[in-house]
Amino acid sequence: MDKIVVKGGASLHGSVEISGMKNAALPIIYACALVEDKCIIENVPDVRDVALSLNILKEMGATVTSVGKNAVEIDCTELRCGTSRPELVRKIRASYYLLGSEFGRFGRSTVAYPGGCDFGGRPIDQHVKGFEYLGAKVNVDCDMVEIESEHGPVGANIFFDFVTVGATINVMLAAVLAEGTTVIENAAREPHIVDLANFLNTCGARISGAGTDVIKIKGVNNLHGCTYAIIPDMIEAGTYMIAAAATGGCVRLTNVIPKHLECVSSKIEETGAIVDEYDDSVVVTGKDTVRKANVKTRPYPGFPTDMQPQMATLLCLADGVSCVTEGVYEKRFRYVAELQKMGAAINVDGRSAVIEGGKPLHGASVEAVDLRAGVAMIIAGLCAEGTTEISQIHLIERGYDDVVGKLKSLGADIEKVSYPD
Ligand code: UD1
Repeated sequence: MDKIVVKGGASLHGSVEISGMKNAALPIIYACALVEDKCIIENVPDVRDVALSLNILKEMGATVTSVGKNAVEIDCTELRCGTSRPELVRKIRASYYLLGSEFGRFGRSTVAYPGGCDFGGRPIDQHVKGFEYLGAKVNVDCDMVEIESEHGPVGANIFFDFVTVGATINVMLAAVLAEGTTVIENAAREPHIVDLANFLNTCGARISGAGTDVIKIKGVNNLHGCTYAIIPDMIEAGTYMIAAAATGGCVRLTNVIPKHLECVSSKIEETGAIVDEYDDSVVVTGKDTVRKANVKTRPYPGFPTDMQPQMATLLCLADGVSCVTEGVYEKRFRYVAELQKMGAAINVDGRSAVIEGGKPLHGASVEAVDLRAGVAMIIAGLCAEGTTEISQIHLIERGYDDVVGKLKSLGADIEKVSYPD
């Protein structure tokens, strides 16, 4: 069993390069399933969810070749519809993008119900609604999702009941090769939606409005291959920004788009740290004291739910009482019990956590209960007195490219250690 062992006390200094964005790379990899040609994808992060997704496509008949550092060539010409292996699909959330891609290209799809982090119920009713508006019959049981249509997807107007990243992406994937025009209203506006649209447009799709809440997709007959570089990961960047602020260090993050970080930057500044923005880098300078702040997570451009555990950890160090409210998922506070083991004073009431800052953190054995919770434990460990051992680190490796190496290069006392099972 692998663990991450962190000795607290060092403040982070230096420069760290941010990898490509996991949540953009995944839909773009599954979008390659729509293209009967070679696509070269660059700035691909070296994380488990990406490797698993490439494996899923490979097993379905795609040719996947590494073409240099963080670049991969994907050729889905020979892809066989409905052949994804359920055991692989169930390991991650993003595998449900196969539904949109298979429906878009083959007019039908059969994919196992997706897995992913446990934040309470994660229904897919809006995905189903989108596919049905595009003319499909959809059958969902607890194990499998099946999409059928006689003539393939046909363009339609779809108004989502609420903002959902996954359903917006799935309908985009299903609609690019549809007959006619699709309009998605109340669409998600995340940077990875824009990245997916840019990739598909480079392949010959006709998508406009991505980044606003109305996306228009004019169906085309086919897509061609291209070379495309994934945008930098704003959540990975935000995580290192908080680690710098929490340890009172000074870190330059390179390969970032500062605009994507605005909401995180301004919240970090509210806690007293300084964030200086440059063209494609930011510098975070932490202070000796952290000020309390209140945070509510929202869809983009609001404060990202995927930064909630890291921010809550920073607020454990603050000079007063802070409140963190989760506005996206019904349950995203499972990590609080782990922070409490380290001495944090946090009370969870429904979708809010009240944090009494300033209680000294001490090292403990804790679990990465999910991907972002796992890096929050690392940040807590960096600030705690003594040694923190984090288990279940495969969840961290799902989405963080070389987190141990990057933190070490910034001066952290951190190791990945293998123990016998
Ligand atoms: C994606 C991200 C995840 C991030 C989330 C919000 C990936 C692989 N995952 O997840 O890291 O936390 O966006 O930024 O990119 N919902 C429904 N019915 C639906 C769809 C969603 O009730 O049909 C609910 C969800 O349970 C959740 C909320 O809507 O409470 C938002 O979900 P959504 O934006 O779709 O997130 P994901 O795409 O699952």
